[in-house]
Amino acid sequence: MSKEILFSSYELNGFELNNRMVMAPMTRSRSANEGKLATDLTARYYQQRATAGLIITEGTYVSEEGIGVVNVPGIYTAAQIEGWKLSTAAVHKEGGVIFAQLWHTGAYSHPDLHEGKKPLAPSNVNPAQQVFTAEGFKPSEEPQAMTAEDIKRTVNDFKQSALNAFQADFDGVELHGANGYLLQQFFSKNSNLRNDEYGGSVENRARILFDILDELKQTVDINKVGVRLNPSLNGIMGILVDDETITLYNYIMNKLNDYGLAYVHLIEPFTDVSDNENAVQEVAKHFRKIYNGTIIINRGFNKETATKVIEDGDADLVSFGVPFLANPDLVARFKTDALLNTPDQDTFYTPGEKGYTDYPTLNN
Ligand SMILES: Cc1cc2nc3c(=O)[nH]c(=O)nc-3n(C[C@H](O)[C@H](O)[C@H](O)COP(=O)(O)O)c2cc1C
Repeated sequence: MSKEILFSSYELNGFELNNRMVMAPMTRSRSANEGKLATDLTARYYQQRATAGLIITEGTYVSEEGIGVVNVPGIYTAAQIEGWKLSTAAVHKEGGVIFAQLWHTGAYSHPDLHEGKKPLAPSNVNPAQQVFTAEGFKPSEEPQAMTAEDIKRTVNDFKQSALNAFQADFDGVELHGANGYLLQQFFSKNSNLRNDEYGGSVENRARILFDILDELKQTVDINKVGVRLNPSLNGIMGILVDDETITLYNYIMNKLNDYGLAYVHLIEPFTDVSDNENAVQEVAKHFRKIYNGTIIINRGFNKETATKVIEDGDADLVSFGVPFLANPDLVARFKTDALLNTPDQDTFYTPGEKGYTDYPTLNN
């Protein structure tokens, strides 16, 4: 059993996943079209990777206001829903399961992407990031602090985009609560200076996530909703850990137990936090003790470490980013201990098929 656990099936709230290997969400910036549409090419890319137990799509905008990277698809117009149907049909044809990652970038954006207007964020804190615009990378600027009305509308945008995703035949949705984007900007003290019910205490900073989930609970199958979190993100992507970070994520994970979600998708620290007592060092191990449902763990896993983390009982599923990007048949390669293709970083975010749909499989 032990060598095979990665390839064993997993029952995910009614979905029979063929294996424990998840394709992590990855922005690929191939939607350089008018309507921010997923296309035939997007469908081919996901179809090639459909032997993953579960695919989570690239971050997909919940609204125009959520835009923060050029050439990324959305899921807030009828044409975008139609565009995504190509991908869901292609993956389902191969017997795969596919969730859409719902994304609002908040401050991690640029006025160029909003017709000159400031992007909306919890507070007017410049995340000091490089933003990928039509004219290349530009430094982020000070965003506009959201009003209560803005927050309400944003919660509704998440709800509507989830409904749209189900209309596009996605099997589920993942809320992007990680990597320094809007939801994490609310969670973190350094990016949230609000003094209303969305700022200050741990409960208040986490509130927007639960507002969205409470809306979703009433409108979609909540057991087809996942949440992605990066609890130990520190010093990059505009986020710092602080003296309440561990308390905050303990609170969030504990409260998520009440929702019956599809899963929580956690990320091990992106940077070395070993000398930072405010950061959770071993994310899966720590939160496994708090969260009762399915945990997907991510970052830097290979076949051996993924097998171990599941065997140790610290996670149920493991997601792979770059390995799936460069190896459409990653499952077959792991099964046969085949060599992996080398990822080409230069084509991670460039248009067209090169570095997208032309990575070879073992059979060609
Ligand atoms: C090209 C690229 C794009 C990414 N885009 C997203 C994204 O849209 N949403 C997200 O949550 N994470 C995104 N990530 C992070 C990955 O999901 C993952 O956390 C990261 O690659 C680490 O996993 P790995 O070591 O298995 O590659 C991206 C990573 C890469 C390399």
